[in-house]
Amino acid sequence: MALMVEGLRKSYGNLKVLDGVTFSVEKGEFVCLIGESGCGKTTILKIIAGLERPDEGSVEFKDVIRPGFVFQDDRLLPWKTVYGNILFALKAMGIEDGEVVRRIIDFVGLKGFENYYPKQLSGGMRQRVGIARALAVNPDLLLMDEPFASLDARTRERMQEELLRIVEGKTVVFVTHSIDEAVYLADKVVVLSRRPSKVVRIIEIEIEKPRDRNSEDFIEKRKEIYSALRFK
Ligand SMILES: Nc1ncnc2c1ncn2[C@@H]1O[C@H](COP(=O)(O)OP(=O)(O)OP(=O)(O)O)[C@@H](O)[C@H]1O
Ligand SMILES: [Mg+2]
Repeated sequence: MALMVEGLRKSYGNLKVLDGVTFSVEKGEFVCLIGESGCGKTTILKIIAGLERPDEGSVEFKDVIRPGFVFQDDRLLPWKTVYGNILFALKAMGIEDGEVVRRIIDFVGLKGFENYYPKQLSGGMRQRVGIARALAVNPDLLLMDEPFASLDARTRERMQEELLRIVEGKTVVFVTHSIDEAVYLADKVVVLSRRPSKVVRIIEIEIEKPRDRNSEDFIEKRKEIYSALRFK
């Protein structure tokens, strides 16, 4: 097991957000958290990353030492180029290696755009820079907060396909609203209730990847998550 999230409770003032969230993540597993807007998904990721403290409960890491975070908004530095943004993240870890930066840019399909500024890129390209920046530090655990939410349907599907290639073998916790995205990506889907959120169901998806979105197994899992989400 890579990570155990146990009994997380969290309020902001009078607003109760998390009401006992428990799930585990295996090493190398791709876990999707799904739940409606405002139920506390970002809060859960922030607690895992150590950016927020829970009122109660714990996050226990097994072996994991270095998380990488891909934020809901891309949070790129507008005054730095693609190259500069990624190098900046590496420098924060005490590494200054242009070769690593170039390799990772190539890896996420942005070769030739090294000297572009974020405003000169499309939304999908900016997200890829965000993913590259998170990957550059070679994280043991990748935390991704709805990275594809703002993309059109086709680009989103392409990014999902690429992501699976890029993160193969990595432990990932990925937040999404999209049932389809969860069924495409996840080994395990953690379905959250409305706020204050709890885990209503944990659904394993054992379909081999890459998955056919029109296969019977796929459609069956989609239905299963849909009804779990409606049950609140
Ligand atoms: N720093 C904060 N201070 C006060 N309230 C907060 C803070 N962060 C989040 N909240 C509240 O906690 C609730 C859950 O927020 P969170 O961002 O975790 O939801 P989410 O599930 O990620 O939503 P979305 O899908 O829209 O991104 C919201 O009602 C939000 O207003
Ligand atoms: Mg969020």
